[in-house]
Amino acid sequence: MSVVGARPNFMKTVPVVAALARRSDPVRHTLVHTGQHYDEAMSEVFFSELGVGAPDHLLQVGSGSHAAQTARVMERLEPVLQAERPDLLLVPGDVNSTVAAALVAAKLGIPVGHIEAGLRSFDRTMPEEVNRLLTDQISNLLFIHSPEARENLLREGVAEHRIHAVGNTMIDTLVAMRPRLEQLDAPGAHGLARGEYLVVTLHRPALVDGPLLRDAVAALDRVADEMPVLFPVHPRTAASMQRQGIAFGSPGVRLLEPLGYLEFLSLLEGAAGALTDSGGIQEETTYLGIPCFTLRDNTERPVTCELGTNVLLGLAPERIADVPALISAAATLDARIPPGWDGAAAERLADVIEQGVPDWDQAPVRV
Ligand code: UD1
Repeated sequence: MSVVGARPNFMKTVPVVAALARRSDPVRHTLVHTGQHYDEAMSEVFFSELGVGAPDHLLQVGSGSHAAQTARVMERLEPVLQAERPDLLLVPGDVNSTVAAALVAAKLGIPVGHIEAGLRSFDRTMPEEVNRLLTDQISNLLFIHSPEARENLLREGVAEHRIHAVGNTMIDTLVAMRPRLEQLDAPGAHGLARGEYLVVTLHRPALVDGPLLRDAVAALDRVADEMPVLFPVHPRTAASMQRQGIAFGSPGVRLLEPLGYLEFLSLLEGAAGALTDSGGIQEETTYLGIPCFTLRDNTERPVTCELGTNVLLGLAPERIADVPALISAAATLDARIPPGWDGAAAERLADVIEQGVPDWDQAPVRV
């Protein structure tokens, strides 16, 4: 069984479901959607585009405080797990649905596999960092996609034989969809010249819930004098702009509703650069070789800075003014794609699952 809940979960799980179905001895798989994200643009669109079909169980937990949302996932998932008793529960990423589902399964004695394990920002003010730490501690199988994840997990006492470097399943989705992205030509459809516009996404509470959002909007207004700025607005950000009475002034800023996967990736692929506070976009730009500027003080994905195209600007909206110049300088970037970001991660993950899940009492095997 896999549990997904929020937008970034879907593309990490879909290739795994497909890989399990392709096995010569196919694995019976059940998909649960918690409903943490529920708007058409934040949820259904991904299911139709990525070709997984409707989830088998919809828990419809919706929005709420962290405790309320996490608790609702736990209450509603428990009877599903009790009825289905899967041999393994897979959870991707670091959202509230991830930790909630892992905790329910662990208490029922159902083994947990964590996709995208071991990432650490070392910033416990981020809700995702708490979700990652806890999920990894109660997972039986830890599927990692970057080298530092192994070190992080070993430091936290995770037995080495549980850690599997399978690669990046989200990049599997990108590899599979790439021909369709190119065909789609979203930049052309938006009347944009390839390589001449900036894609912006901002949604993290530290940036958008408070006063920094006003500074970021003012800085983007100024950047838009130099290059078109395309900004699909996350519902959290839209709500905060409305609450704080913040509006863009420059006609160079194009505000869009949240986009589907194909349209967004097609726009990203044609962009001069991306300004973001997302985790996934740091990885997708590294794969695509597009300069990425991350408006955060830290990243749980340092491999995107070390090997890839990512530059940490800090949680500092005034640095947005530097982005056009940084894009010009980035033309000479010698970026590389991290190992295992190759379109075959889900197959490797399915290979591991086929070998079985180690019990908790199994003596650690040193490799
Ligand atoms: C969640 C994840 C975050 C991830 C992000 C991707 C947690 C703690 N956070 O943040 O890690 O990067 O998803 O989008 O799990 N809303 C809607 N429609 C929806 C969903 C949300 O309008 O379909 C609005 C609601 O006002 C809600 C707010 O967005 O209160 C926040 O939603 P929530 O799921 O709590 O967190 P995200 O900010 O989306």
